Amino acid sequence: MSKTSQDKILILDFGSQYTQLIARRIREIGVFSELVSFDIHFEFINKFNANGIILSGGPDTVTNNNSARVDPRVFELGIPILGICYGMQTMAVQLGGSAKSASKHEYGFASVNVDCSDSKLLGHIVRETNNNSLDVWMSHGVEVSEIPDGFESVASSENCAIAAMENTRKNFFGLQFHPEVTHTCKGKEILERFLEICGCKKEWTIKNIVKNTISELKSTLGDKKVLLGLSGGVDSSVVAALLHKAVGDQLTCIFVDNGLLRLNEGDKVMETFSKNMGVKVIRANAQEKFYTALSQESDPEKKRKIIGRCFIEVFDNEAKKIKDINFLAQGTIYPDVIESAGSKTGKAKIIKSHHNVGGLPEDLNFELVEPLRDLFKDEVRNIGVELGLPYEMLFRHPFPGPGLGVRILGHVNEKFADILRLADDIFMEELYKADLYNKVSQAFAVFLPVKSVGVTGDERRYEYIIALRAVKTIDFMTAEWAKLPYDFLDYVSNRIINEIKEVSRVVYDISGKPPSTIEWE
Ligand code: XMP
Repeated sequence: MSKTSQDKILILDFGSQYTQLIARRIREIGVFSELVSFDIHFEFINKFNANGIILSGGPDTVTNNNSARVDPRVFELGIPILGICYGMQTMAVQLGGSAKSASKHEYGFASVNVDCSDSKLLGHIVRETNNNSLDVWMSHGVEVSEIPDGFESVASSENCAIAAMENTRKNFFGLQFHPEVTHTCKGKEILERFLEICGCKKEWTIKNIVKNTISELKSTLGDKKVLLGLSGGVDSSVVAALLHKAVGDQLTCIFVDNGLLRLNEGDKVMETFSKNMGVKVIRANAQEKFYTALSQESDPEKKRKIIGRCFIEVFDNEAKKIKDINFLAQGTIYPDVIESAGSKTGKAKIIKSHHNVGGLPEDLNFELVEPLRDLFKDEVRNIGVELGLPYEMLFRHPFPGPGLGVRILGHVNEKFADILRLADDIFMEELYKADLYNKVSQAFAVFLPVKSVGVTGDERRYEYIIALRAVKTIDFMTAEWAKLPYDFLDYVSNRIINEIKEVSRVVYDISGKPPSTIEWE
């Protein structure tokens, strides 16, 4: 079944930091959802043919002149609509109700009382749990003060008299709290109930996604050849596995070993794809080229550019050796698409800017295929599991495109890269062993090209410094340093200093983001 013919929900994004979460939750329940800016052309909304629409939260103040509004024709489509937070407020205002600045702003946990036990959206939870109080996540400074005609107020909290409203005849619902956030107890059940009201069948499953993607790839590519830049990261690995299933030998991958990868990474990639799966992979051993190009440069941004440029040259060179390629595959995923789409009026804030180092040879005349364009990262990972890719490859911490190039401060050379690889590998091995790897969002070692004194036995030595970094974060835009146990850090530090003779000192980075960044360069 194609995306167009299956049941689906359209989310109109007013710019809340949680909007992507709404889309992910809906999909986790098993229904396809797409996210577009609230001010997209009405023709798009109409043609999309959704079973229901969700109006997201957003940073705007609904009581301000010129605050964001949804096209009023959306309310005439005859399908269920759920407004969340700002979405509820604009729904109320646009349908004849009103909103006011809340006497007490609510941010964080709140207890909401479901006042109407036969509420169409919330009643079943009250009946199932025999409890009409819900712990929810609130985040608002404005509230609905008057509900529009045809609506009923169905829930309230201490500081918010109308915490939920509904018009059961039209199937319009408003929630002042965020059901998409895991802190909201029964949030998933509320969204599930909305999907039930929309009459959605649960067809968005990993098995179906894999089946449909492979059949779409087969029909797009036919008997044509396709090229893929394989990095060993999650996205390009999953694209390789999908393409291999779809068109087998018509796929050629180019894996550029830039000398800035983790320990044994190149061999592992070759083993997984070439040896175990039978994928055609060309390994371009370009370490020397990268080291030479980087040897005289210490400026971080210039280093990134050099790495990007070298990548393109190597890729281009290898690609030109292969005859009759028509398509170039890319691992673009849905958040990249959303984040580069922006909004017509510029109102929906773009929260994260993404780096895409490596880039692509622009003058290669290929048609693009992007089989992950509609998918969130967790869906991509689950597809990888379904296709049998190794777990460690799919559930690893993010690794920056320029690799160790931004973790070796200043000039990069092979010796520094080798030292860093060993230190990083020890750190990772111990994190896994101590069951801490999955408790932090990203961890790595950094090479500092300064020498410090140490003593081994009776001998003094001057060697390099390794910094360890581990952070916890949700979106990588802000992060806190991970409070790893002292005993653990002590053990890792000892191993690094004892096993790598070029290192005399290990330090732990205790900077948050902001003010620091996650990477050191
Ligand atoms: P920062 O250092 O900006 O990192 O706090 C946030 C996240 O982005 C990753 N990062 C990069 N990824 N190319 C990438 O592909 C880059 O140039 C780059 N710089 C940082 C970083 O690892 C972290 O996950």
